[in-house]
Amino acid sequence: MAVTAHTGRPRTGAEIRAAFLDFYEQRGHKAMASASLIPDDPTVLLTIAGMLPFKPVFLGQQPRPAPRATTSQKCIRTNDIENVGRTARHHTFFEMLGNFSFGDYFKEQAIQWAWELSTVVFGLSPQNLVVSVFREDDEAGAIWRDVVGVNPKRIIRMDEADNFWASGPTGPCGPCSEIYYDFKPELGDDGIDLEDDSRFIEFYNLVFMQYNRDAEGILTPLANRNIDTGLGLERMAQILQAVPNNYETDLIYPLIETAAGLAGVDYRGLDAKGQTSLKVIGDHSRAITQLICDGVTASNLGRGYILRRLLRRVVRHGRLLGIDKPFLAVMGEASIALMQVAYPQLLERREVILAELAREEARFLETLERGEKLLAEVLAAKPTQISGEQAFELYDTYGFPLELTEEIAEEQGLTVDLAGFEAAMEAQRQRAKAAAVSIDLTLQGAIDQVTAAAAATAFKGYEQLEHPCCVLALVVNGEPAERAGSGDAVQLVLDTTPFYGEGGGQVGDRGVLCGQGADGTGVIVAIDGVSRNRSVFVHSGRIERGSLAIGELVNAQVDRACRRRAQANHTATHLLQAALKQVVDPGIGQAGSLVTFDRLRFDFHCPRAVAPAELEQIEALINGWISDAHTLQVQEMAIEAAKAAGAVAMFGEKYAEVV
Ligand code: ALA
Repeated sequence: MAVTAHTGRPRTGAEIRAAFLDFYEQRGHKAMASASLIPDDPTVLLTIAGMLPFKPVFLGQQPRPAPRATTSQKCIRTNDIENVGRTARHHTFFEMLGNFSFGDYFKEQAIQWAWELSTVVFGLSPQNLVVSVFREDDEAGAIWRDVVGVNPKRIIRMDEADNFWASGPTGPCGPCSEIYYDFKPELGDDGIDLEDDSRFIEFYNLVFMQYNRDAEGILTPLANRNIDTGLGLERMAQILQAVPNNYETDLIYPLIETAAGLAGVDYRGLDAKGQTSLKVIGDHSRAITQLICDGVTASNLGRGYILRRLLRRVVRHGRLLGIDKPFLAVMGEASIALMQVAYPQLLERREVILAELAREEARFLETLERGEKLLAEVLAAKPTQISGEQAFELYDTYGFPLELTEEIAEEQGLTVDLAGFEAAMEAQRQRAKAAAVSIDLTLQGAIDQVTAAAAATAFKGYEQLEHPCCVLALVVNGEPAERAGSGDAVQLVLDTTPFYGEGGGQVGDRGVLCGQGADGTGVIVAIDGVSRNRSVFVHSGRIERGSLAIGELVNAQVDRACRRRAQANHTATHLLQAALKQVVDPGIGQAGSLVTFDRLRFDFHCPRAVAPAELEQIEALINGWISDAHTLQVQEMAIEAAKAAGAVAMFGEKYAEVV
C-alpha cells in the first residue's frame, strides 16, 4: 500500500477518533457524546448514522445544540449482515465520526475541512484520494476542482443511488460527496471505477442536507442548509494501520485473538472460512455488548431480535471453530476491555452485560440440543430429503436456525427442501399479518401533518392545573381540519397546556377544555389522553357540546384526582428504584416503566430473581418513606446542576439541557 508514515500522524483507533474530534473542536464545533444505539425516532430500530440524533434539529423541530457539532456516534446496521467477515469492510456495529453544521457553514467549507483533515491530519497523499459528487451537483465538482485543486479525472460523478443520502424513505436528505482511498494509485486516473472495492474504499461522506422528503417522495427545501458528514472510524483505521481489512485493525483484532485462543486456532493459519468465522465473532461481539449496554435484551421482536440473532451467530461461528463450551461472557469481557475508554458506560453496566450474554447463550445451547435431538429423530426415519415443513417446525418452534439444519443434513448426505421452507414461512407470515392489530396510520399521518409546523407546546402543568390556551391546530375524525362540531373525535394542538403529555412512562392527563366555542354558545371538550409528537402536545378527546375552531381560546382544566394518582405512582417508581438499589444491587437501573392512574410497573435488569425476603424488605422501606411524608418539590434546572445535586439519570433516556 502506498501510504508513507509521518511522525505525529494518528494510527490507533483511539488516536484517529481524538484527532477528528480535536480538528473540528478547534474549528468551533461543540464535541458531543455519542447518543444511545436506541434512537428517539420511531422510523428506525437502531441508530444507523451520526446524524440520527440530530434529525429533529435538521427538520427545525428542535433548537440546535450549537451552530456546529462533532461526534463519534455508535451505530449498528444489519442490512449487510451476511457480508460481515466476507468482505473487507462490512460491519454491524461501527463508529461514525461526524461534523455537523446546523444552518451554519455549508458546502465549500465542509469540503475544504474534509480535505485538510484527510491530507494534513491523517497525512493521506492526494495521489491516494478520489472524490465523488452527485451527477447534478456542479457546484461541489467546481469546489473540488478549483478551490481544493483535485485533478478533474479523480472527481467522479455518481447518480442518485450513490450520491444522494437520506436516513430513510422520508426525512432530511440531500446530495452528497464522498472521499475514497485508492489502494492502487499506480493504475492511473483513467477509467476509475469506484465500485471496485479491491482498489477503492469510501471513508468520508459529506451530505449537503438541504431537503425534507415526504411520504410521496416530494422534496421540500429545509429552512436551513446543513452539513451532515460521516467518516468510518474502522475504515480510516484500516487505511492508517495498513492492514488488509477492517477486522484486522486494533478496533476489532484483539477480539479475534481472544476467540482464536478459545478455539485453540491461529487466525493467520486458518482458511478463508475459518477466518470469516473469527471476523464474524469479532464484529458481532462488539455489537451485542453495546446493544445490551444500551438496554436491549434478547427477544423475538425488533431490537431484541437483532440482539438475539447476532448473539446466536456468534455462538454458531464459535461452534464451527470448535468452541464447545459457553464463551460469550469471555467475549463480552474482552469487548468491554477494548471499548471502555471510549465508552465508560460499558464498565458501569458490566455485570448486566455479562449476565445477559451468559443467560441468552445458555438458552440457545438448550435450543440447539433440543433441535439436534429432534433432527436426529427425523433422520432416523431415513428420508431422502428434509421437508420444508420439518425444517420450518425446527426453526419456528425450536428456534433452530435453517443454516444449521442444512449443515447437519449435509453431513448425512441429505438436502433441505428450501422452497418448501420458504412456503411454510410465507404461510406463517400471512397468519401473523391477519392477526396483527392494524395501527391507525391515517390518524398518525394527520397528527404528523398538523404538528410538523407547530412550535413546541409550553407546558404549565407543574405549577398550574388550569390555564387559558389557544387552539393552534385540529384533527377531526382523523383529518386535519379548521373546525370541529359536537360529537367529533378530535386531536388538538394548543399553544400552552397544563396537561401532562404521556412521557417518561407516565400516562397523559385527563380533563376538559371549556370556552365560548365557535358559535359563542359554549364548548366542552372531554380530553382522555395527551401524547407528545416530539415537543408538541397532542390532546385527544371528543367535543361533548358546541363547536370549536382554530384560533379560539379555551380554559384547559386537568382532572386533579387523576393527576394526583399518576403523580403518586410516578414518585413510587423512584422510591421502588431506590429501595431496589439498597436491598438488591446498587447498580440497578431502570429499563422501562409504566405509570397510570391506578398502577405502576417498573422494569429493571437483574440476573437473578428477587427473593421473597428481599421483597418484604423493599416493601417495608418504601412504606416507611411514604409515611415519612417528605415534601416533594418539582424544579427545572440545567442537567449538569441536577447531576451535581445527586439526581439519578435513567439509563438510555435522552435528556434536554434543562431537566
Ligand atoms: N449520514 C451520512 C452517512 O451515514 C453521513 O453516510
